[in-house]
Amino acid sequence: MKISPLKKPSGITDRRLIESDEFPFEFVSRLAEMESWRKEVHRPIYHIHKWWAMRLGSVFRAILLGSVLPETEDLKDAFYRKHDFAGIIVFDPFMGSGTTVGEAHKLGFTALGRDINPVACESVRVALGPLDRDALRQAFAQLSSGVGERIRALYRTTDGDGQPCDVLYYFWVKTLLCPVCSKRVDLFPSCIFARNAYPERKREVRVCCPGCGGIFTGEVNDSYVECPHCGHGFNPQEGPANGASATCLGCHHTFAIAKAIHARGHPPDHRLFAKLVLTASGRKVYLPAGPEDERAYHRFMEELARSGLPLPTLELEDGYNTRQALNYAYRSWREFFNDRQLLALGWLHQAILELPDESVRAAMLTAFSGALEFNNMFASYKGEGTGAIRHMFAHHILKPERMPVEGNVWGTSKSSGSFSTLFKSRLFRAIEYRNAPFEVAIPDARERNGGKRAFGGSLPFTGAVSTLWPPNGRAAPRTIHLSCGSSAATGLPANSVDLVVTDPPFFDNVHYSELADFFFAWQKLEPTPFSGNRASTRQPEEVQDTSPEQFERKLRAVFTECRRVLRREGLLVFTYHHSRSDGWTSLAEAVAGAGFSLVNCHPVKSEMSVAAPKSQAKEPIQLDVILVCRKQTMDLRAKQESNDAMRLAVSRAEPKLQRLQKCGFDLSVNDRRVVLFGQFLVEASAGRSAIQLADALSFVMTDLDLAALRLPDKSEHRETFYQSKQSEEPQLVLLERPAKGCRTKL
Ligand SMILES: C[S@@+](CC[C@H](N)C(=O)[O-])C[C@H]1O[C@@H](n2cnc3c(N)ncnc32)[C@H](O)[C@@H]1O
Ligand SMILES: [Zn+2]
Ligand SMILES: [Zn+2]
Repeated sequence: MKISPLKKPSGITDRRLIESDEFPFEFVSRLAEMESWRKEVHRPIYHIHKWWAMRLGSVFRAILLGSVLPETEDLKDAFYRKHDFAGIIVFDPFMGSGTTVGEAHKLGFTALGRDINPVACESVRVALGPLDRDALRQAFAQLSSGVGERIRALYRTTDGDGQPCDVLYYFWVKTLLCPVCSKRVDLFPSCIFARNAYPERKREVRVCCPGCGGIFTGEVNDSYVECPHCGHGFNPQEGPANGASATCLGCHHTFAIAKAIHARGHPPDHRLFAKLVLTASGRKVYLPAGPEDERAYHRFMEELARSGLPLPTLELEDGYNTRQALNYAYRSWREFFNDRQLLALGWLHQAILELPDESVRAAMLTAFSGALEFNNMFASYKGEGTGAIRHMFAHHILKPERMPVEGNVWGTSKSSGSFSTLFKSRLFRAIEYRNAPFEVAIPDARERNGGKRAFGGSLPFTGAVSTLWPPNGRAAPRTIHLSCGSSAATGLPANSVDLVVTDPPFFDNVHYSELADFFFAWQKLEPTPFSGNRASTRQPEEVQDTSPEQFERKLRAVFTECRRVLRREGLLVFTYHHSRSDGWTSLAEAVAGAGFSLVNCHPVKSEMSVAAPKSQAKEPIQLDVILVCRKQTMDLRAKQESNDAMRLAVSRAEPKLQRLQKCGFDLSVNDRRVVLFGQFLVEASAGRSAIQLADALSFVMTDLDLAALRLPDKSEHRETFYQSKQSEEPQLVLLERPAKGCRTKL
């Protein structure tokens, strides 16, 4: 197929595709689903560093296109075409990992992004800024032969035959002293410390004997084993720690773990009990940790004490996400690492700072920062058969790990979560994507597995990023501008932006700054263009609150600023979902209070909400709504009575839900509620102030809930995706393959 010529919008004052019910959200949902299976492969540029609640690139590409294309345009076709919206300015006030900014850049827009968190801003600056593959490869080789060698030496031991070998992982257990007999109690929740990630395929597990500390092999469901070293018989599924309490194996006293830690005043000690080594012949072998390993560790402790390395000093602040670590008496971010990790990380950090080139240094520092989440004593073992290390943010809270795993910080060819492996998998994949961006292709009927790539629909990344706003609000075509601070006051001129496309924080989900401080503790050692002289990343203006009033007030402040900077005929488009009704009332007040009117909404597949409260687990939300807003003054619709707006909402939401169901999405009652709530706000927002809109919503809330229950959860006339595709959708053609040389070799 010939590549379509560059397409310019016909003018964006007319009604746009995203304002119409013709917007093909089923198509977008299919893309979103496919992207979400392997996000870091389909959009590696947004995954060079950890960020929370990352959104799917396909959804934001579709939103951007829908926001400029006229309603007559076919998105399914336009999605894979190359565009150049030069001269049109898009702003994301809640930039996060940069999804809107990156997608806008691919389409030729001028992209402005702002986030209150310097950790997010820096990773976007690196991901979209200058990245020279050859210079990075060279710097990596230099690090590898220098500090890499020194770090690898920290993870050398001997195998069962006394031969030198590398350690892949060291296994540690937290310990406390019994408050009655003072005997050491290992806080093993189970004596099985390693199992395969797919135990149904590989049933073998490793057990640590509570009698002698020896390790041996068992079966995944064993309920009784005898230690081959000391003859002790026990149930390996159990350990001395059980929930919040632990039992001393010496005197059988059971005590509360938190209370014992509180009495100590500092976090529990750790005992090294096992290691997984990589032998010279490439075999992986589990071994008990011996006196040689202990002696080595003590040597490294002494070396760290002598080293004078600059290390994090930032203290933990109280908060929803930090509380569990504080309850385990963790007081500073430095305590998240053991001394060998601090030595390895401290050396690596220093070596990176000595690299002469600013952009190479910044990229390496980002890779370093990304490696931190896998190389600390809150990381745990997932088992072989998958990326072996479960990083510390797997839980969205800082859960102190009773059996932490310490990986080899530099890494071997078989490591997971190490600096060298992450450097290659994250940075090089991102560079490859930047040179030849692609979209997820929807498979045709013969290719059921999908996941193909459609190249040629986007401009390659320029690699130029400015940390200043465009002068006088007049941007050169296709530039990227990033800024760090609260978007309640952006410093952008009034009426200077054509579109605001964003993804605001959802009230009381993830507390970004509480978690991001873990990275910032290291970033503070070498300030980035965004870190300034902040003490931490916590800011009173951050939109993240457990109180609906606070959330509404802060979100309204940002939307009010968006209204000021947005041109008269501009659109504000954002994604949202919430299971609780106050999440919707706050949103209604924030949007209307800022002077916007909601003109349409579309359901779209989101990722499973990991942070959903337990009560929602049975009815999980898998949909976001895309909410489309215009300035109130531009909304000429007549005001509807609440009950009429409610009836209208049901009658418009129902076919939308059916469209999704028809192409294979089963929708929970919470999904149906999300769509109904969104649609109600659309129908009711014309002619209403913030208070009136929130009141109208409260007035019909019960009816909306009942209506959501009555709507079906799946379609009876369901076409499989492939059937519907054959009948409705054009065949997807791979538009253009990347030029030779775009693929990365290391
Ligand atoms: C839901 S996340 C955005 C995620 C983004 N769409 C992505 O794909 O990565 C919301 C972001 O808003 C930022 N934020 C919260 N309050 C802010 C404020 N007042 N001004 C600017 N950014 C803010 C948070 O730091 C967070 O990165
Ligand atoms: Zn005891
Ligand atoms: Zn034993």
